[in-house]
Amino acid sequence: MNKKQKLEYIWKAIRKAHPKKTLVFSDGSPNNKIMIIGEAPGIDEENQGLPFVGRAGKLLIATLEKLSCPRSEFYISNVVKYRPQNEFGKTLTPTLKEIAIFRTSIEKEIEIINPKIIVLLGRIAMVGMGIKGTMGANHGKIITRDNKKILIVYHPAAILRNPNLKPIFRKDLSKIKKMSQS
Ligand code: URA
Repeated sequence: MNKKQKLEYIWKAIRKAHPKKTLVFSDGSPNNKIMIIGEAPGIDEENQGLPFVGRAGKLLIATLEKLSCPRSEFYISNVVKYRPQNEFGKTLTPTLKEIAIFRTSIEKEIEIINPKIIVLLGRIAMVGMGIKGTMGANHGKIITRDNKKILIVYHPAAILRNPNLKPIFRKDLSKIKKMSQS
């Protein structure tokens, strides 16, 4: 089985486990060596069926492009594959239970992609990977695990809420280029 077929196998299991949810899987070639992991799709992602295409995604991609890292170089995914919402359709942050439900599948996804570098966007992605600590303390850190380098970065939605964090966001993301060259 090639990587695409292996991924399809995981998606099939997720579809079976969540038949009533609108699911959003990944974007980008599974052969890319840098994997971005976010939290969960938002409304725009749900509508378009792709991760990081809404406001936060546009900010992320624009920042990466300025750093000479185009979207095409990444394999982009989320810990939770559906948009958590309340009964009125308002988007919610994934719960610890939802993160736990998706823990095995994100681990399998990483195993299939086998990226050299993983960029974790925000607290949920960090928790999903079992990394402790706050974003304030961990952003910009590079952790080595299973021969992979994991970079922790603020979620772009946090930058939309607090534009003062923009230079930090850019500085943390700028580490990707150096990491991919070493
Ligand atoms: N936020 C995320 O964490 N993931 C997306 O795909 C979109 C917004």
